[in-house]
Amino acid sequence: MKKLFIETYGCQMNVADSEVVAAILSSEYQICDDIKEADLILINTCSVRDHAEQRIRKRLNELGFLKKKKPGLQIGLLGCMAERVKEKLLHEESALDFIAGPDAYRSLPTLIQEATFGKTAFNVMLSTEETYDDIDPIRYDTNGISAFISIMRGCNNFCTYCVVPYTRGRERSRNSKTIINEAQQLINQGYKEITLLGQNVNSYHSEEDGEIVNFAKLMEKVALLSPQVRVRFATSHPKDISDELIETIAKYDNCCKYIHLPVQAGSNTMLKRMNRVYTREYYLERIATIRRIMPECSIATDIIAGFCGETEEDHQATLSLMREVGYSSAYMFKYSEREGTMAAKRFPDDIPDEVKGRRLEEIIALQQELSLESNQKDIGKTFEVLVEGASKRSNNEYFGRNSQNKVIIFPKEDCHIGDYVNVLVQSCSPATLKGIIVKS
Ligand code: SAH
Ligand code: SF4
Ligand code: F3S
Repeated sequence: MKKLFIETYGCQMNVADSEVVAAILSSEYQICDDIKEADLILINTCSVRDHAEQRIRKRLNELGFLKKKKPGLQIGLLGCMAERVKEKLLHEESALDFIAGPDAYRSLPTLIQEATFGKTAFNVMLSTEETYDDIDPIRYDTNGISAFISIMRGCNNFCTYCVVPYTRGRERSRNSKTIINEAQQLINQGYKEITLLGQNVNSYHSEEDGEIVNFAKLMEKVALLSPQVRVRFATSHPKDISDELIETIAKYDNCCKYIHLPVQAGSNTMLKRMNRVYTREYYLERIATIRRIMPECSIATDIIAGFCGETEEDHQATLSLMREVGYSSAYMFKYSEREGTMAAKRFPDDIPDEVKGRRLEEIIALQQELSLESNQKDIGKTFEVLVEGASKRSNNEYFGRNSQNKVIIFPKEDCHIGDYVNVLVQSCSPATLKGIIVKS
């Protein structure tokens, strides 16, 4: 059988998509983990910021050299960058044989064939229906413990800065039965943690046999499959995180007490310009509700620094909101203008790069403090930890995460990867907790 190497960039949805691609090509290609052995290399790409695309272009340059050394080697580009740049990419990047957008993976065998015969091979058609729900992803890069299930595709929110609605197309939910079946299969195979994925899982909606399944119901159905299996999700839009969902997470011990609720900015002017359709006050009310129902829940976020027209005052509002919420962690970015988005059309990208950089540094520095504070509060507490692997720093230690999604490192004792152990936290850094196993 021919050998396939897949390199994945971008978000978790891309990771899940690469697993679907591996399945689609499995009758002809076997996944390999040494790129030098590959007959076919696929690069699954991200377009969310310019930096992400630049990285991929550099990588294609390197792969061009590999191709010169190995005649017959084929290279294909998948994902959001294929969708955004389209067939132009084939002219710009000589290393590429073909490209396929996120909804075109079923046509990969044909594209590969066409490319073999020297045709210009691309498919960047978006679909309003494709969910790949009949395909059993091949989880080729797994610890056997945690798995992703993609429950929906696309996005209809059109935040003005964001390219995703253009690269992933319209929002569509996958049939809930196929999700439950996939979750059950994973559990049968010994997986201990399932993450349900979508750009905005809160708007999940499916109707089967007269039953309407919203995201809270879906979470519940997955949680009920096995109390021994954790359920997580990513990611949720603040505009529709419902009380029902918060209550469902609270109700089941195996629903992880961790919510990633990207705020993006702290001032109402910026939120409005971003088309996030909520206000600072509304967002803080949602946080208060989460805290009231689940005091132990940790909350993480995404923040963009230096969006169009952002004043010093707007920036201060982001910092004060961060303090008010006390995030346990955050993903923080400089605004990067994306061609074709509303922001690119309507608002000048007018914050100088140095100012964006300085604001981002302030945001990162504050988050370091908040992460440390949040972790310090855990010292002396005991958490149930799912053992995920050997610590990167030391052979005598394991790492795992608690329900709050915090990484905990502890000395190896009588336990294995995939076990749940109780760990007493004794010290911390902003990034991790350290502790010892205690008997329950
Ligand atoms: N669907 C998710 C986010 C997907 S993109 C949500 O709405 O929360 C992941 C993150 O990238 C976003 O939350 C945002 O913080 C960041 N991002 C998106 N577009 C960006 C841009 N043009 N410049 C900088 N950061 C951006
Ligand atoms: Fe982008 Fe907004 Fe959709 Fe998230 S919700 S993917 S930020 S448009
Ligand atoms: Fe990037 Fe596409 Fe995900 S733009 S963040 S890979 S949906």
